[in-house]
Amino acid sequence: MKKIIIAIDGPAGSGKTSTAKIVAERLGYIYIDTGAMYRAVTLAWLRTKQPLNNEVLTELLKNIKIELEASPKGQITKLNGNDVSDEIRSVEVNKYVSPISAVEIVRTAMVDLQRKLAINKGCVMDGRDIGTTVFPNAELKIYLTASIGARAKRRLNEYMEKGIKDLSFDEIATQILERDKFDSTREISPLTKAKDAIEIDTSDLTLESQAEMVEKLALKIINNIN
Ligand code: CDP
Repeated sequence: MKKIIIAIDGPAGSGKTSTAKIVAERLGYIYIDTGAMYRAVTLAWLRTKQPLNNEVLTELLKNIKIELEASPKGQITKLNGNDVSDEIRSVEVNKYVSPISAVEIVRTAMVDLQRKLAINKGCVMDGRDIGTTVFPNAELKIYLTASIGARAKRRLNEYMEKGIKDLSFDEIATQILERDKFDSTREISPLTKAKDAIEIDTSDLTLESQAEMVEKLALKIINNIN
């Protein structure tokens, strides 16, 4: 069976990660959360307590190892061999991840790693620039969107499940909008819908139905090329 690359892009809270995970599992594909990689770089930088500049980041990138591993509890993100899956979702990382992701040397290093991870494998990759930059020839490109209300509600629920209660709905919505603006207006690989991507608005969809839509689109392509 020939395997394809499925690129899922979209703004924060549009459902990329949860959709990508389900689709990958159903197709027996690997799942790569590129946001987790940028988050791990951000966490590593926060730990240095150094200013944010090219020199500090160049040194940092030379010395860090980022790995995504499958585990019984789902995918885990490792930074220098340690599981940082929870830490990379902190409010602090959320605050700095966009400025760090906009830096050219960070993007070059991560895109390189992402392409290597997907070599010869059926893969579902989610992020901001997968269909435009990382895999412009991906067989299936999906662009997920959702209203700001739906996205902020999802993030609020995610925080509540983790016991983080220090942010209100309005604060979360503001942060998401700021991150969207930063991600879509940056110079290198801004968040944008690839011309050939299929857009799905998930505001009123259940996770199950959006995953099913993507899976069906993928199966159609897979069956056609085999
Ligand atoms: O889960 P959520 O949508 O909030 O974010 P994420 O996918 O974990 O990505 C976090 C941040 O990493 C984004 O806001 C982008 O600034 C950056 N990112 C990126 O620049 N390129 C990617 N391919 C993935 C994430």
